[in-house]
Formats: sequence, structure tokens, C-alpha cells
Amino acid sequence: MKFYFYDSASDTDQGAAKSFIKMTNGIATPKIGLATGNTPVGLYQCLVQAYNQKKISFKTFLTYNLDEYVGLTKDHPQSFAYFMNEHLFNGVDILEGNIHIPQGNVESPHVEAAKYEKLLEDAGALDVQILSIGLNGHIGFNEPGEKLHSKTHVIELTEDTRRVNSKSFPSFEEVPLSAITLGLGTIMKAKKILFIAKGFEKADIIQQAFEGPLTTDVPGSLLQLHPNIEVHLDKEAASKLA
Ligand code: F6R
Repeated sequence: MKFYFYDSASDTDQGAAKSFIKMTNGIATPKIGLATGNTPVGLYQCLVQAYNQKKISFKTFLTYNLDEYVGLTKDHPQSFAYFMNEHLFNGVDILEGNIHIPQGNVESPHVEAAKYEKLLEDAGALDVQILSIGLNGHIGFNEPGEKLHSKTHVIELTEDTRRVNSKSFPSFEEVPLSAITLGLGTIMKAKKILFIAKGFEKADIIQQAFEGPLTTDVPGSLLQLHPNIEVHLDKEAASKLA
């Protein structure tokens, strides 16, 4: 694990963007795992800026998102597909056919999860996986529990996660009950992980994930086993590390 500490959230975004550009530079067809949520918004802004300054092109990139809410169409404003268009894809030269996101609005989410897993297996290990962590320790939507899944699957969201995520929905009731998410095995297969966290509210879980025991109660703790992970933290998120 390589840690990078920054004075501010915006320095963290810029530092992570620089690392991303370095990690993907020289790869003919970079295969990238993407996250949504508040954390990567600043990183994506920096990447759009870098694209405008001709420091990076996404023309040959293949992208694979981590997760999607079950039941939402891709043009639903709270879907992760919509989020990605808003925050990254509309601002860069990525080809539409190279974008992969599980479809939330399908007859059988389990069939969709199996299809997505096959797509990832056929693609081979991702070059870079962008990742953050939920307040309860989830990565992707792999929620804490007795068991963790290795492959892409349908997961029931915990009430905690639904409450946290309800900020971007008109009401708590409208937050979907489940999601399709990559499993831990698939996430851990990525050649490199670019992990980001910012803010005091993440300080406890960052301490548990990176300094605590490996436990399914904190799915993010498994990241300690990854051979090539960069952890980019602002000083608030890092404030409880030893
Ligand atoms: C997003 C994802 C989640 C988020 C996590 C943190 O695709 O898979 O694991 O990374 O919930 O969310 P934020 O960044 O909103 O704190």
C-alpha cells in the first residue's frame, strides 16, 4: 500500500488525477473500473480539465462501472449511468461503445449480474480500478456481513447505505432496495487500485479498513491484501491513522 496525504480535498483530487494519468499512460487500450458517489466527482472534474488541456484522451479507454441500482433506467437522474455522463463521459472523448455499466432496469437483475461478470472475465484484469469506501466499510456495494461475494451479484442494500445515499434522492423511500455490484474477487483482480477518501466523516472507517483486522464486517479491509494499491487521502480522512 502506498499512501498519499494532502492538505485539502481539491489537492487530493488533483493528486489522484495525476496518478490516474500516470497509471494509464502508455497502455494502448486502458481498461478502467469506475466508481460513482461524491468522492470521485472532483477527480473526474480534474480528468475533464486534463482532457481539455490535451493531457489525456479517452478514445481508446474501455470503462467498467462498479455498480448500478436495481430498477433505475440509465436516464434516471439518480442512476450511476446518468452520473457518469454528467461527471465524466460528456466531457471527454470516450466512445459510447466502450462504456460498460450494469443495467439496472432489467427483467432479471441476477441474469444481468451474470452477464456483466462474463463481460469482465472476457475483458481480463482491469488496469486501474478507481475506488472509495462507504461509511459502513462497503466497497462497490459489497455490504458488511458474514459473507462476501467474489463475483458480480445482486445485493440488498443496508438501511444505513440507503439512508446515506438518500441525500441524492427526493426521499428515502425512493432509494432502491438493491443494486448490482462487482464482487470482491473481481475488484481485487484489478492490476492497480486508485483509492480516494476525503473528509472527517470517513476517518474512522479509513482507520478500520487500513489499520484494522481483515474482516467481512469491513469489506474495505480486504484492500490491505492488494499488491498494488495507492491510497489518496486528505488530512481529514487520514486523521485517525496511526
Ligand atoms: C460507488 C460505490 C460506493 C461508493 C461509496 C462511497 O460506485 O461503489 O462504494 O464509493 O458508497 O460513496 P461516497 O463517495 O458518496 O462517499
